Amino acid sequence: MEIGDVLTKPKVLVTCPIAQQATQKLREIAEVKLNPSAHPFTKEQLRKEVADINAIILGADKFDEELMAAAPRLKMIARYGVGYDNVDVKTATSRRIFVTYTPSVLSDAVADLTFALILALSRRITEADSYVKSGKWGRSPFPLGLDLARKTLGIVGLGHIGTKVIERARAFNMSIIYYDIVRNKQAEEKYGAKPVTLKELLKQSDYVSLHVPLTEKTEALIGKNELALMKSTAFLINTSRGPILDQQALYEALKEKKIAGAGLDVFQHEPIESNEPMLKLSNVVLTPHMGSGTVETRLAMALMAVDDVIRVLKGKDPTNVVNIELLERR
Ligand code: DGY
Repeated sequence: MEIGDVLTKPKVLVTCPIAQQATQKLREIAEVKLNPSAHPFTKEQLRKEVADINAIILGADKFDEELMAAAPRLKMIARYGVGYDNVDVKTATSRRIFVTYTPSVLSDAVADLTFALILALSRRITEADSYVKSGKWGRSPFPLGLDLARKTLGIVGLGHIGTKVIERARAFNMSIIYYDIVRNKQAEEKYGAKPVTLKELLKQSDYVSLHVPLTEKTEALIGKNELALMKSTAFLINTSRGPILDQQALYEALKEKKIAGAGLDVFQHEPIESNEPMLKLSNVVLTPHMGSGTVETRLAMALMAVDDVIRVLKGKDPTNVVNIELLERR
């Protein structure tokens, strides 16, 4: 490589760890700057880092108007994930900055984790693990779990991930009901998923699983009143976004055993705060926002994000665009 080559290459900032294979591909056409630390950048650090970049591969960092103003050469924000609630898409569009994301490739992984949480709660897997490891086996009985067969799973938000969860639930012989603002006729015909109101879903389900994106409309969708509709034997699973749930209301419902338990991969504040009361509850299973966290899926996501960055830096249209209006205006 020539020195001049480096000087003329576009600059790409990657704010979170991604597969090496993807960064190598990116380095063929761009100068790549990685976040060297295990911690996300602070806003101040990001402001400095973005000053001369042409594209960014963005983890969970919030990317707002102020940061876009600090990045005058920015052509695209490639969100490494399916949710883009951390990006001010409106401002990006007005500045003609493409926002891309990585849909579909992570649906199986997120559905697997959702089901892992359902099974962990039903069969008390985390408690059973501590029971065996603490030498209690043979000294005190282990409480019985619950069957999944013939139970009702309620899916809130029946998009790609919700559909993948249904596929798994069908194999476990569960009945499916769903709530969405848009009817999913295909899922109704193929899996017998029955559309219901949110209220009905909360009343009837043995397992409620949330799969909606975080928007102004879905924020705090499940609060005290909604939790009060659930059966005392029911479980709530959230692998979408923390703020969709009122975490304090959920804590109270769990503490007072108004619902049986919860499996949570996402939280109001991430990483979870050390004084978070939920950490002390025994009827919850908690994971560190790792829905898409498998080797294969993270590689596919990284390559998808990188391919779109390369396309934009070469003057082509990106493939997985959030702000499609920018394509229409070209
Ligand atoms: C997603 O894909 O949005 C995941 O939650 C990772 O941010």
